Amino acid sequence: MKNKHLEIAKPSFKIALVIATIFSLAQLLTGHKSAEGVARNQPAKLAAMEGHFDSSGVADMYILGWVNKKKQTTSGIKIPGGLSFLLHQDFKTPVTGLNTFRPEDRPSQINAVFQFYHIMVAIGMALIGLTLYASWQWKRGNLFNRKWLMVVFVWAVLLPQIANQAGWFAAEMGRQPWVVYNLLRTSDALSKAVKAEQVLVSLIMFMLVYLILFILFLYLLNKKIKLGPVMHKADNGNEIEMSSKRENPLMTK
Ligand code: HEM
Repeated sequence: MKNKHLEIAKPSFKIALVIATIFSLAQLLTGHKSAEGVARNQPAKLAAMEGHFDSSGVADMYILGWVNKKKQTTSGIKIPGGLSFLLHQDFKTPVTGLNTFRPEDRPSQINAVFQFYHIMVAIGMALIGLTLYASWQWKRGNLFNRKWLMVVFVWAVLLPQIANQAGWFAAEMGRQPWVVYNLLRTSDALSKAVKAEQVLVSLIMFMLVYLILFILFLYLLNKKIKLGPVMHKADNGNEIEMSSKRENPLMTK
């Protein structure tokens, strides 16, 4: 973006782009496999992820939406029969809905599960779009002429982190009220030895430790970027840019 260290920045960016493109596409496949597994093993969770109530009806796939738990309806922009298609390869086969389960056996936060799941999938699709678009621009020789694209890539670093958190929220809230699906309820799995306050304290400790590590990571990363690659003299006398073991930011003053 600042036209500095281009000799090392451009190839590095291209390597990262190839890897990001492959893995964002692979994420769709693994995500799809996960969804099939959830449909098999935790059908109430899958129904909550798509806000699907009616077991006798086809299941739609929502791009965006809102679940009304009281009215047992979901509204939004959808692909009619999309979930049926993903699971059964046709748009008509019914999918187990939330009304198959007793209210006490359903996740209590259906809309939250739906939203977290959709945030994750939306980010997954956005990353696919972004990396494919950038690869196409590369092919056309325009990759580094698009300043806005470079800016988007800087901020896109945050997206997988958000998707990770959203994915975990969807997975963990969606499995409620079970710790072991259909066998052990969360309320029956509470430890008699460890008190809630103790769990809270260790959670806070973990959060603090990870927060400190994260801040340290950002600090070191920023320092490393500002330092840039070390210049070396090539055999022909020209200066070339190279990363070097010597430039460990912890060692530099
Ligand atoms: C591209 C579309 C995606 C689909 C279809 C998808 C699908 C799924 C499904 C069905 C689950 C629930 C698994 C379970 O409860 O057992 C899940 C969980 C999760 N996803 Fe995604 N996902 C996608 C994108 C992403 C992205 C981009 C990330 C992060 C970079 C991500 C990170 C996670 C995490 C951390 C979990 C929780 C861990 C787990 O249960 O395996 N997902 N995903």
